[in-house]
Amino acid sequence: MTMHGTLANEAVLLHHRPDGLPTPDCFEAVSQSLPALGDGKVRCRTHYISLDPYIRSVIAGNHMGHGIGPGEVVPGETVAEVVASHHPDWPEGTQVRCPGGWQQFSDHLPEALHRLPTGLSRPSLALSVLGMPGLTAFAGMHRLGEVASGDTVVVPAAVGGVGALAGQLGRLAGARTIAITSGEEKCRIAVEELGYSACIDRARDDVAAALSELAPDGVSLYFDLVGDPLLTTVSQQLAVGGRVILCGLMGDYNGAQKTTGPPPGLWIGKRATVKGLVVYDFEHERLEFERRYTPLVEDGSIRANEECHPGLSSAPDAFCRLMRGENTGKVVVELAQAAAS
Ligand SMILES: NC(=O)c1ccc[n+]([C@@H]2O[C@H](COP(=O)([O-])OP(=O)(O)OC[C@H]3O[C@@H](n4cnc5c(N)ncnc54)[C@H](OP(=O)(O)O)[C@@H]3O)[C@@H](O)[C@H]2O)c1
Repeated sequence: MTMHGTLANEAVLLHHRPDGLPTPDCFEAVSQSLPALGDGKVRCRTHYISLDPYIRSVIAGNHMGHGIGPGEVVPGETVAEVVASHHPDWPEGTQVRCPGGWQQFSDHLPEALHRLPTGLSRPSLALSVLGMPGLTAFAGMHRLGEVASGDTVVVPAAVGGVGALAGQLGRLAGARTIAITSGEEKCRIAVEELGYSACIDRARDDVAAALSELAPDGVSLYFDLVGDPLLTTVSQQLAVGGRVILCGLMGDYNGAQKTTGPPPGLWIGKRATVKGLVVYDFEHERLEFERRYTPLVEDGSIRANEECHPGLSSAPDAFCRLMRGENTGKVVVELAQAAAS
């Protein structure tokens, strides 16, 4: 823990920007010495790191106008514990959510810190079903998609961070929910664990044919997390008056394709409503979201589907698996709970 008398901080830096799919050698593990804690700042020890697809754009240098370069700590949201504090509102021992990144310790001004929802059986829930991915699912299904009983909802990336809750919110609203995912095991999770009405295996099935069989009256709500070719395939099978929520472009992030979507005439013909979603617009709803859904997660009415990797050193490989679409749930990394100093 100490390095030449000072506190050491294990960290993972960006080594070089990926070209296509990221590989573990794009990242570099280092041990850095921690500076003295600055005035008014709070030092946090990381317990869990959230790995999210948007980090692919961040390390490419172009996430909504922001990015990092080689030599910088890979960013990411974390659940952490305050281990030293120069601020009275954030005493040692407080559990927080903060942008700690891929490292053991991070220093913050109080504005960057958020308390965890009370009553969590597992702190990582604040990064998954009750965190940013969960809020995204809530915003897409309820605020923009206005899901209701009688809807036929299609969710791709159906068992991942956003999709796993989106499908469950659809079911709880009384909708018929169709998962699109890849592989037998993910289809099993979708139907048996997350309660989707049906599942299409995009790696094996003819998605268009399966959809016309499963949704003969058309899809009334498509929560798009992946872009083309699924965006076009599902849009072709929209019901009249269908809604499309554009939220993610998994198929594009590694640079192999550029989603263009269906010709607009198709949406015109279906009298479709198409809305773009940016979760930051719903930050003001986060506390209410946590208050409403924490009891449902804790009593098992909503299932948290997490894929947890042990140790900071597992982060590069886990992130690369996520970007290859091999994850089977919301990806988090759990750091060893060592003594603070
Ligand atoms: N707009 C916003 O504010 C916002 C906020 C959060 C997340 N998002 C977006 O939501 C999406 C899901 O994020 P997440 O964190 O929940 O990730 P995730 O679903 O846990 O992981 C990504 C999944 O995408 C699927 N996938 C990968 N490549 C694909 C491809 N070429 N075509 C179709 N599916 C592919 C894979 O699932 P299967 O094997 O199941 O197909 C993979 O497991 C991402 O696009 C993310 O950027 C947007």
